[in-house]
Amino acid sequence: MQNNKEQIVKDLFYNNLKIRDNVFIISENSNFLNQKQTNNAFSEKWIEYNKQEIDQQKKLFKFQKEWYLKLYGFSNEKNLQEYLSNKKIILDAGCGLGYKAKWFADLSPESFIVAMDYSDSIFLAAKNYANKNNLIFVKNDISNTQIKSNSIDYVSCDQVLHHTEDPQMTAIEFSRILKIGAELAVYVYAKKALPRELIDDYFREKCKSISKDEMWKFSQQLTELGKRLSKLKVNIDVPEIPLLNIKSGKIDIQRFIYWNFLKCYWNDELGEEISKSTNYDWYSPSNAYRYSKDEFKQLLKKANFMTRPHHSEEACHAGRFTRI
Ligand SMILES: C[S@@+](CC[C@H](N)C(=O)[O-])C[C@H]1O[C@@H](n2cnc3c(N)ncnc32)[C@H](O)[C@@H]1O
Repeated sequence: MQNNKEQIVKDLFYNNLKIRDNVFIISENSNFLNQKQTNNAFSEKWIEYNKQEIDQQKKLFKFQKEWYLKLYGFSNEKNLQEYLSNKKIILDAGCGLGYKAKWFADLSPESFIVAMDYSDSIFLAAKNYANKNNLIFVKNDISNTQIKSNSIDYVSCDQVLHHTEDPQMTAIEFSRILKIGAELAVYVYAKKALPRELIDDYFREKCKSISKDEMWKFSQQLTELGKRLSKLKVNIDVPEIPLLNIKSGKIDIQRFIYWNFLKCYWNDELGEEISKSTNYDWYSPSNAYRYSKDEFKQLLKKANFMTRPHHSEEACHAGRFTRI
């Protein structure tokens, strides 16, 4: 299979790729300042995350896999497995720690999975899943994959597109490498209430000059706030305020503040460390675009994808879209 792996890589990419620590290297880092800062922020996040107990990591992976099925319209894992079974080449675009790429590789042993990320998480992923024959790891920018046109059967870009320098250009790149009729699974952050959007923009800019240690400390403080609010177990009845995009309804106080004013994530089930790293990855990357439903549809249309009803929730818009 090793030879076969090398042959597939040779056939798939325009150039011969050099390899270091089991990772195929195309580009080490970006020349765009915001993308570079975003890569560094994720390198930091994933290196810290990878230090956690295996059981703790497994908790997040399980939670994320269940969410993946829901976001992209798979009724269960078996349904995803059937879907993947006839996909020859799959790209996990922005694979982070690589556990979803490994999941696809396990579910569909006949498929070949290319897992690509621009942060140093790619070295951890390659180390953690070194023994998979149908899975390779590539350090590169997903907006310039260097993959030949019309060669991919499924692109999975889960929670990544909005972190790229120019998401529209990245979507166009996906369209170029996908075969006609093949699908892109993609997720973008949704626009939230106005006060939250303004604070997020203001604060994300400020975070560019904050040290890593300060950033973790800040994330810890947000986590503590989220936890304390959540413990109150208070529901409030919110009136609709359309000009601020604040929705009406009975809502827990922590959720009310979270969706409308400040990201102070807390999840009882996932606990302290995962909640902290979720808060960290909100304010620390410089690139973090948000979209209305219509803006998301426009982005897909411009990149030659057929839009259809998709999954939307407070946090995101996500779905599978066909390359036309
Ligand atoms: C929120 S994480 C999601 C990781 C993974 N898809 C998951 O669901 O666990 C976003 C990832 O996108 C990666 N990323 C951001 N911009 C990228 C780019 N231009 N090219 C490749 N990866 C990128 C980051 O390094 C990070 O690992």
